[in-house]
Amino acid sequence: MAFIELSSVQKKYHMGEVTIPALDGVSFGIEEGELCMIVGPSGAGKTTVLNILGGIDGCDEGKVKIDGEMINSFSRRQLSVYRRQNVGFVFQFYNLVPNLTALENVELSASLTKKALSPKRMLDRVGLGERLNNFPAQLSGGEQQRVAIARALAKNPKLLLCDEPTGALDYSTGKQILELLQTTSNETGMTVIIITHNTALTPMANRVITMRNGKVHRITINDRPLPVSRLEW
Ligand SMILES: Nc1ncnc2c1ncn2[C@@H]1O[C@H](COP(=O)(O)OP(=O)(O)OP(=O)(O)O)[C@@H](O)[C@H]1O
Ligand SMILES: [Mg+2]
Repeated sequence: MAFIELSSVQKKYHMGEVTIPALDGVSFGIEEGELCMIVGPSGAGKTTVLNILGGIDGCDEGKVKIDGEMINSFSRRQLSVYRRQNVGFVFQFYNLVPNLTALENVELSASLTKKALSPKRMLDRVGLGERLNNFPAQLSGGEQQRVAIARALAKNPKLLLCDEPTGALDYSTGKQILELLQTTSNETGMTVIIITHNTALTPMANRVITMRNGKVHRITINDRPLPVSRLEW
């Protein structure tokens, strides 16, 4: 039994008269501790899958099992507890609270769970130990994304979900961020899922799920994922 199992997941969005089939029978499994990449063209359903895994959104049909729990049948309240205790999110545009410092942003997230790690130590790990008291507007894009990763990691989540985490970053900053995500997955056994448009990044993953038109098009397993330091794109 895999750590994450989706079976025949369907999700439609309704916009007035129009129905948009975002997910049309999605099934896959992800093992605990894997670094998994989800790739595919715009509109393929990648973010929808991630939001469902993170309990931000629900599905219409099908099963979503995470660590033995059927989260598709959770109530709103159960989902909110699930999100708080198990999931770290890293978004494309950081989503930091602008009037809190870097440290306060991470502390806020750490305060949500009992098993949280030290916010200062996490900011140190992402190379921002000297910038604790800076506000997001005083940090570069890459630094803000690193705060966002520290914030997600400080919760010590079972599942780290990243939606285009390097989409807004330059090459070398993006590479640092990916290295950090890969190291975290390797060293802590955290299950990490990363959405990307860039198929050149896929050799770094244990598992690559390619989506197209709301369906899983292909699943590839890499027995020997490449360290990010050896990737060029
Ligand atoms: N809140 C929403 N309301 C209506 N339609 C939506 C909503 N969210 C997503 N969709 C539609 O569902 C489909 C899948 O969207 P999704 O955001 O999952 O794609 P994606 O693969 O993440 O694309 P991108 O690479 O552009 O981020 C798209 O056709 C999109 O327009
Ligand atoms: Mg998306």
